[in-house]
Amino acid sequence: MTGSFIVMDGVEGCGKSTQIKLLAEALRAENYEVTVTHEPGGTPVSERVRELLLDPQYPEMTSLTEVMLFCASRAQHCEQVIRPALQAGRMVVCDRFASATCAYQGYAGSLGLELVDSVNRIATGGLEPDLLFVLDLDPAVGLRRKFGDDEASGDRIEEKSLGFHRQVREGFLEYARLRPERSVVIDADANADDIHAAIIQCVSERLG
Ligand SMILES: Nc1ncnc2c1ncn2[C@@H]1O[C@H](COP(=O)(O)OP(=O)(O)OP(=O)(O)O)[C@@H](O)[C@H]1O
Ligand SMILES: [Mg+2]
Repeated sequence: MTGSFIVMDGVEGCGKSTQIKLLAEALRAENYEVTVTHEPGGTPVSERVRELLLDPQYPEMTSLTEVMLFCASRAQHCEQVIRPALQAGRMVVCDRFASATCAYQGYAGSLGLELVDSVNRIATGGLEPDLLFVLDLDPAVGLRRKFGDDEASGDRIEEKSLGFHRQVREGFLEYARLRPERSVVIDADANADDIHAAIIQCVSERLG
């Protein structure tokens, strides 16, 4: 018996955490065993790598180092948490995965999709989600949801970073376009309950 691997991804503030909570509750109500996890992180080693990735002390960190660290964290996560849970027949719901590294560092960043794809493949040993949800949202809306729309935060989210996040959005859409059998793009500019209903419908159609 093997479980199903569901990933929720998309730009910042698109509603990943909100939808994962709703989905996990709905699955548990149907008596599924559910493992909710996230990247980067999900194991003690991966959480230490996450701390390094988020540490503002190292502005010199190169994009390649960053990808290697995300993927080191992912390798440990796949081996220690995701595969064993799937082998035990559990539903695994993961906040971000390989798609995020492709969108941020590969598509919007300087490294290119080919390189990021190949490092991802090494990290995951070929493990891919059975179902990837890309919660598609204008990043200006996502960042406003996260930081509010007062003037101070408007300054913080300057046009340059908004341009980067728009590229990230395109990166997620491209990632999904290249994997149509495993990916579903959901319009995330809707209310949370309607998005949840769309997700549940896809899960039952695609995973039974
Ligand atoms: N459909 C929605 N419509 C409006 N606001 C929403 C919606 N879904 C979530 N929010 C709100 O937007 C904010 C960001 O949502 P959430 O934390 O779920 O997004 P996220 O994708 O997990 O963000 P992050 O990138 O920070 O992890 C929260 O304040 C949440 O309550
Ligand atoms: Mg979140």
